[in-house]
Amino acid sequence: GLAELASLVLGYGLGSIPFGLLITRGAGTADIRSIGSGNIGATNVLRTGRKDLAALTLVLDALKGTLAVLLARHLAGDAAAIFAGIGAFLGHIVPVWLGFKGGKGVATYLGCLIGLWWPAALAFAAVWLGVAFATRFSSAAALVASAVAPLLFFLTGQITDGAALGLMTLLLWWKHRANLSRLLQGTESRIGAKA
Ligand code: G3P
Repeated sequence: GLAELASLVLGYGLGSIPFGLLITRGAGTADIRSIGSGNIGATNVLRTGRKDLAALTLVLDALKGTLAVLLARHLAGDAAAIFAGIGAFLGHIVPVWLGFKGGKGVATYLGCLIGLWWPAALAFAAVWLGVAFATRFSSAAALVASAVAPLLFFLTGQITDGAALGLMTLLLWWKHRANLSRLLQGTESRIGAKA
């Protein structure tokens, strides 16, 4: 219905704010899209050597997802929340302002989970941290964490949200296809490695 469509659009608007790009531009670092993976996310901001800017990017890219979900739930009810989440995720990965060349969606996915069902966000963060500490690969951590999240929803009978998140996971994997091939070839860069 209209509430769901409005939530999708609201989410997209919030999600399409490219915080990584704005923050690095504001701080006058090297052009984020010309270093490392070229991605606008926190992992690549870290490759500028600025941990503070990377942390800020992570928090704001997550918060826009959380805010979209909570705002939609407040304004239009429970059923609309997931549409805002999908919208925010799409806004982040395919923002119209950047010719649809956005980020990979990890922080925004987490932010949506925080708003939708915080235990799943906790699980996502725990799995991400576990894989990241074990492998030092941000991308591998994201691929595994995002696969676990929809399963938790399915296992607890939250089928609609689980299906929506499953779709978001597929898109996240698609955005990580270059990372995936680097991981398989053994050429993926590790967290903390400079660009
Ligand atoms: O946040 C995206 C992360 O999973 C990988 O980022 O820059 O290494 O491609 P990057």
